[in-house]
Amino acid sequence: MKLNDFKLEVFFGKHEFTAPYLLTQSDCESMTVKELLALEPGSMDTLLGSRLGYTEVTGSPELRNEIAKLYSNMDKENIIVHVGAQEPIFNFMNVFLNKADHVISQFPVYQSLFEVARAIGCEVTKWTIKQGDQGWFMDIDELESHIKPNTKLICLNNPNNPTGFIFSEAEMRKIAEIARKHNIYIFCDEVYKGLELDGIKRPWFSDIYEKGVSLGVMSKAYGLAGLRIGWIATSDHEILTEMTKMKHYTSICSSSTSELLSVVALKHSNEILTKNLALIEKNLEIADAFFKKYSNLFIYNRPQAGPIGFHKINIEMPIKDFVDKLVEESGVLLLGSNIYDFDGQYFRMGYGRSGFEASLKHFEDYLLSLDLKVV
Ligand SMILES: Cc1ncc(COP(=O)(O)O)c(C=O)c1O
Repeated sequence: MKLNDFKLEVFFGKHEFTAPYLLTQSDCESMTVKELLALEPGSMDTLLGSRLGYTEVTGSPELRNEIAKLYSNMDKENIIVHVGAQEPIFNFMNVFLNKADHVISQFPVYQSLFEVARAIGCEVTKWTIKQGDQGWFMDIDELESHIKPNTKLICLNNPNNPTGFIFSEAEMRKIAEIARKHNIYIFCDEVYKGLELDGIKRPWFSDIYEKGVSLGVMSKAYGLAGLRIGWIATSDHEILTEMTKMKHYTSICSSSTSELLSVVALKHSNEILTKNLALIEKNLEIADAFFKKYSNLFIYNRPQAGPIGFHKINIEMPIKDFVDKLVEESGVLLLGSNIYDFDGQYFRMGYGRSGFEASLKHFEDYLLSLDLKVV
């Protein structure tokens, strides 16, 4: 298998730990181990007394139980734990797809969601999120026109990275209906779920579709990326069995300490999500004022869900050059649409971090120092 470079991870590898003003991050503000343990009385002693051995390949029963509680129709037998979200994307695509299969992938999207399928040899059709007057939207009817006799999988990311677009529940059910009619599976990366900005919770795809495979993680909405705990939920037991066998070759099992800490976090799921959502809302108010002030320079696509938005800058300079110059000259990190192979002068901005206001101020100062030609 020949994988193309993961453009986003290569770019972050260069800047994420050196740029002082991170304005594009997709994970919510993290917490210390001490802060996390303070949520659950007695958890410090449990942690200190825990043994550092292997855990079950599919994840500890306690953790799978807590994860299953997030769903309406899943129990712990429907869950397999992995290392972060990247491992289950890789493993699922590898056990599920063959090179003769056709895949429809939402676009733009986190690269591995179509790149692994492409590396396997599958034909991949992009189902593109469109820019409208009111922000990003998708044409659900268009989906059916992409279906071919060998379409095996529709791959979605809901809420979406990078656009902050989210399907309504009615749209999700319509997509499930189309997939059911054509006997196609849906893999939905739902790592930003729980951060719906319209206040309306969406279901997980695995809860509404018997051939739905949902991806969840502690990294993003919970802000606990260092735990490296992610999971797959599905009612398809064959997929779970095949993924277990694949995991024997990748990580075998997750870290027992991380599993334990994830149990603590998930027992306080609502509390953590509410806190993170409040910070995103606060940062978005600041962003609202900023984009209003510079409305000639930007098209502001306020995120519908999740901690990121994908906005347009109306300048002549190619977005890649602008973003490179920005980080080199001002230390402010944004992500250009070139990283997503998406046409247009778009950049990703992140709203989940506590340093947002200060980073935005540096961005503004830098913009004012330039002699930008607005087009
Ligand atoms: C949509 C999406 N899926 C998966 C991942 C990978 O997550 P993790 O770092 O937990 O492996 C990311 C990370 O940015 C992401 O944005």
